[in-house]
Amino acid sequence: MADLSINFAGIKAPNPFWLASAPPTNSGYQIMKAFDAGWGGAVWKTLGVPVINVSSRYGAIHYRDTRMAGFNNIELITDRPLADNLKEIEEVKKYFPNHAVIASLMVESKAEWHQIIKDVENAGADGIELNFGCPHGMCERGMGSAVGQEPDVLKTIVEWVMEVAQIPVITKLTPNISNIIDPGLAAVRGGSDAISLINTFKSIVGIDLDTYAPHPVVDGKGTNGGYCGPAVKPIALEMVKELAKHPEIKDTPISGIGGIETWRDAVEYILLGAESVQVCTAVMHYGFGIIREIKSGLEQFMADKGYQSIYDFKGKALPNVTEWKHLNLKYKVVAKIDESKCVGCQLCYIACDDGAHQAIKISEDNGHRIPQIIDENCVGCNLCSLVCPVENCITMERRDPATSYVSWEDRTQQNRIPTTFNDELAGGGHHYVPSVEDALKHRSKK
Ligand SMILES: Cc1cc2nc3c(=O)[nH]c(=O)nc-3n(C[C@H](O)[C@H](O)[C@H](O)COP(=O)(O)O)c2cc1C
Ligand code: SF4
Ligand code: SF4
Repeated sequence: MADLSINFAGIKAPNPFWLASAPPTNSGYQIMKAFDAGWGGAVWKTLGVPVINVSSRYGAIHYRDTRMAGFNNIELITDRPLADNLKEIEEVKKYFPNHAVIASLMVESKAEWHQIIKDVENAGADGIELNFGCPHGMCERGMGSAVGQEPDVLKTIVEWVMEVAQIPVITKLTPNISNIIDPGLAAVRGGSDAISLINTFKSIVGIDLDTYAPHPVVDGKGTNGGYCGPAVKPIALEMVKELAKHPEIKDTPISGIGGIETWRDAVEYILLGAESVQVCTAVMHYGFGIIREIKSGLEQFMADKGYQSIYDFKGKALPNVTEWKHLNLKYKVVAKIDESKCVGCQLCYIACDDGAHQAIKISEDNGHRIPQIIDENCVGCNLCSLVCPVENCITMERRDPATSYVSWEDRTQQNRIPTTFNDELAGGGHHYVPSVEDALKHRSKK
């Protein structure tokens, strides 16, 4: 059986699955219940001077049949007194000494940072996470993303923390920034033991069309919230990759957060360099029980691939993430329709004719609804295979002989790139494009 345990910057946990700092980690009751269900660690709901929250706090994007494809909140840090939280941290550690309990913190002054670090250390926390991410409310008070967006300020606060911290420190980054490397470097240069990301995106999930107020509506008004859930995963993955590849950051352990719901999501984060992963929205949606499938899925994946530990595949996808200029321009795929699977919906035809390269034809005979690919027109963009509702009905077939590799960079060095507006070397220069009049053919049929 694979060993799922990790030693994350000195924080030991039986598995890499941690609850992110959020409502599921609001109390000792919830964290004990989660550990009992199988979670390996928990980042406590951010501690600081307790707040007053508004009622009506969450909004969501329900995409077609999927509830909460994107999730939005205007909640602040903990509203519970510090002493209550500290007492519960101590109790949780008594019952679960081998699980990771990480105290998320957000305070203002150096003195407050020094005091609260001592408090959580005395309570028995295994690590500290610095919350520089909240994009609502707390940033108006000079904390949260107001710090995360200012690398110099972030570095100064990390340095204050490192002056006194006796346990490992994770700096949690905000994604509300143009280049994630800037705060990432600031955290590392400030001495942070580890990095976690992402916190939520500044967002408006929708407007009520009767009251004209943004969701969630608080007595006729709203404000920007923090966006998370499945919709944010691609952006978070890209940011994790950026940090994991950076020469000065790559040796700093990363905890990946954002839209994780299944074991596959978690594996993707680990393949891009994360060592632990944190989950919030999926637990708020489905409860702590999802850990059973997440854990067994990871175990099966590791068994199938022959991995003994998380470290055997951590970062394994990174060498395959390159820059566009290094991609092989000789690689050529063409769409292929499996007629035995096709249901004749013709979505592929519509997508290709209106949104791609007019490489699919449909029979003039209305009885025959299966479209046909015109190989020589197909640029291999994948669009038809993505819109096709039948699994594996449209596949992309490799057509180049797989014997040569020529990249944009190679062609640049060989002076073989288009440099003038009407350059013969342009990729689409000799590609089929219908005549403009062809657009009106369909009209004449009406
Ligand atoms: C309702 C809610 C409250 C949150 N509160 C905190 C918080 O107190 N501290 C913090 O660092 N992050 C907080 N977060 C952000 C989460 O920890 C996490 O970074 C984010 O939700 C992305 O993960 P997900 O896509 O799994 O939800 C909160 C998120 C939600 C939805
Ligand atoms: S989208 Fe798929 S199922 Fe629909 S017509 Fe095209 S190939 Fe057939
Ligand atoms: S891959 Fe792109 S160009 Fe080729 S048939 Fe499909 S949609 Fe058209």
